[in-house]
This record gives sequence, structure tokens and C-alpha cells, in this order.
Amino acid sequence: MPTVALARETDWAGWRAAARALVLAGVAPDAVRWRAGGAGDALPAAEGGFGLPRALVDLATLAFQARDPDRFPLLYRLVWRAHAGERVLDLALDPDVDAARALALAVRAEAHRMRTHVRFLRAGGDAGGGGRLIGWYAPAHFVLEASAQLIARRFPDPSWSILTPDGSAHCDGGDLRFGPGVAPPADDAALAALWGERGGELLAGARPGTSVPEAEALEEAPRPPDRPALGPVVRHVPADAALAEASAEAVRCRRCPLWEPATQTVFGEGPPGARLLLVGEQPGDQEDVIGRPFVGPAGQLLDQALEEAGIDRRAVYITNAVKHFKFVRRGKRRIHERPDPAEMHACAFWLDVERVRIAPRLTVLMGATAARSVLGRPVTITRERGRPFELAPGATGFVTVHPSFLLRLPDEAAKAREYRAFVADLREAARIAGGG
Ligand code: URA
Repeated sequence: MPTVALARETDWAGWRAAARALVLAGVAPDAVRWRAGGAGDALPAAEGGFGLPRALVDLATLAFQARDPDRFPLLYRLVWRAHAGERVLDLALDPDVDAARALALAVRAEAHRMRTHVRFLRAGGDAGGGGRLIGWYAPAHFVLEASAQLIARRFPDPSWSILTPDGSAHCDGGDLRFGPGVAPPADDAALAALWGERGGELLAGARPGTSVPEAEALEEAPRPPDRPALGPVVRHVPADAALAEASAEAVRCRRCPLWEPATQTVFGEGPPGARLLLVGEQPGDQEDVIGRPFVGPAGQLLDQALEEAGIDRRAVYITNAVKHFKFVRRGKRRIHERPDPAEMHACAFWLDVERVRIAPRLTVLMGATAARSVLGRPVTITRERGRPFELAPGATGFVTVHPSFLLRLPDEAAKAREYRAFVADLREAARIAGGG
């Protein structure tokens, strides 16, 4: 019995060429063995060709990406039968068709999950946000290559790499390359260390091209049923168990429509015992991709101001009033839009969970959205900033500007003046939060 050895699990072109040659040579499905990797037999010389219904090819391209060794013979059986004239996809009850459809569905769902759940940390770079975004994901099926094509189309600009146990994808300026996989890192720090040690080697070993089918079939796929975030993604998990649970639930939040266009939920982060809670508006473009609050330009400015105010960011719990990025598309750009009161109200559920669990001494409301969300009324920042007030027994509130306000000021002198006032507010906040 001939054995067909594919170059790798995702060698769609190799499988297609072998299936064609075998059908044309009249090699029946039960007379051939399939494997990924290793040695195989030479294929019969194939003369001519034949067509297959487009729907069957689409089904096969998806099912081929399933992590199931039986998919190779299963799909060959379907091709064999279709070539013999059977209208296999029209059959109401057919075990092969049903099995292939189930695999295709699982692949679609996993590809979607990968695209929405992969999170990135920044390796290297500077305060301007350069460097490379590194993501980790352990896909249940072989969906890295197709998903990477879609992610590269959506995010061609920042350089990024996605590492998985099966392989890695690397994108630079829209140019996509694929390389070897890596063992699962334990957490973000291990992922960063792994990239530090092996990033150069992984990039050097990456090659352009994939034979995995067009990604459109995945893109048009319906969203999968709600499921919790997959465990193995190296994501920031709050140290507090209740917050960890809430952040996992928030991944599936449907309390308002903002979840749909956004890449992911961006939950707050910080130590459970934080005395100081900082609340911003909503994740921005970069936060939406990276999955962490205040890591883009406003976050860099906030970091600088915190440092000048003598506040260690690692000791602060930082979150947003709204956990999804709200934007409008303009060409390739995603332009920030303010959340409306209904969206703030819907998301106050998660902010309340964070506020109750962290129970900080001081809550700093940065900007009008944070202030309105927490106080439940419109707030004029210039009128209320810098004056501590009782938020609840034992808990103080404090209003200040949002760092994005500083970024938007066109005049350098005004920018410098407002920045100094912001640092002064943070210093005052540190004094209140730290005072006994
Ligand atoms: N602006 C915010 O309010 N929050 C972020 O996380 C980033 C920008």
C-alpha cells in the first residue's frame, strides 16, 4: 500500500497534488496511507486533471486545517467519490460529509478564537512604541497560517510575531513569513525572555509563503458560539481570584455592541492590594491589539507623569471606564470615538467589580468619561479637578485630566503647562493614597 508523506501538517498543496495524482491513477482510498512528515512513496505520474465543486474544495480547505490525522484519508474519500460522479454535498446523511463539516466548523471557530484572543506584548522599542509585538497562542487546530494572513491584512504596520507550539508567523510591513514553533512559555515574562534569547534565530529561520488556502473562507465565517478564553494564551491574569474570573468572563461580554468591532476586551491590571486606582476612558488602538490598558501613546505619557510624581506603576491598579475600543474606520486607520452614556453604563458593571475587589484608598478619575462613569453624572473637569471628595466611606475620589487631552493640545507651551499640572495632580493623589 503506498504511503503519501506530506511535508508538514499544513501542506495543503502537497495533499492536493497527491490526491489528484492518486485519483487519476485509480488508487482507491483504502489502498493508500497518509502521514505528515517522514518518508513516503513516490506518487504515480498524473496525466490530465479534473474539476471538483467549489463548495467541496472550500470545505476541504477548512477541514484540512483540523488537528485530526484522519482528515487526510477522509478528504481523499470525498474527492474520490466526487470524481466518480457522486454529488456528495447534496447527501442528507453521509458520515464522511458530516465528519468533514464538523472539522470545518471546529477550524473556523478556532481561527476566529485565535484572531480575537491572541494578545501581544512589546519586545524592544522605545517610548514612541516601536519594537516588535510578540503574541503567544496554542491553537487547538492548525489555524496559525490562515489566521496570520488575516491578521497581517488587518495589522500590516507594526512588526509582530505570533508563536505557537506548531510554528511561528512573523509580519514586517505586511510581509509574512513562517518559521518553527516553540514550547509554551509559562507567562508573559517567560515569553519575553524566550523572545530575547531566540527571537533573532526564529526570524532568521522564517520563510515566506504558505500553501494553506485562502483565508476568505475563515473571514466570512460566522462567529463561534460564546466560549471562555482559552487557558493557554499567555495573558495578564489578575492575581486576585475574583478579578481573574471577572476578566475571563469579560472576554465574552455582550453588555453593549462595542465588543463586536473591537479585537478584544481590555481588562484592568495591577496588584490586588493597590491603594491607588486610576481610571481612564477606554482602550485605544494599540491597547486593543495588545490587550493591556495604557500601553499606547497616552500610556507612555501616563508612565512618564507617574514616574515624575514618584508613583510606581506596578503598585497601581489601572483600568478604563469602558473595556472595548470604540472607533470609526477611516481608510486603514481606526479613529477613536467617545463611548456614549449607555455604553458607559453597560461597562460600569466591570468597573464596579474592579472597584469592589481592589477597594483602593483613592480612585483617580482621568477625564470626563471616567468621572461620569463613576459619579453617574456629567462632570466638567476644569471645575472639579484636584479636589478630593468622599466616594464612599473610607474611599476618596479625585478628578484630573486624561493624558490624551495633553497629547491633543496643539500649542507646546500649553502642553508643558498642562503636563506640569497633571504631574502635580498625580503627586497629590500619591500623597492622599499613601497617607495614613
Ligand atoms: N486611553 C485610555 O483611556 N485608556 C487606555 O487604555 C488608553 C488610552
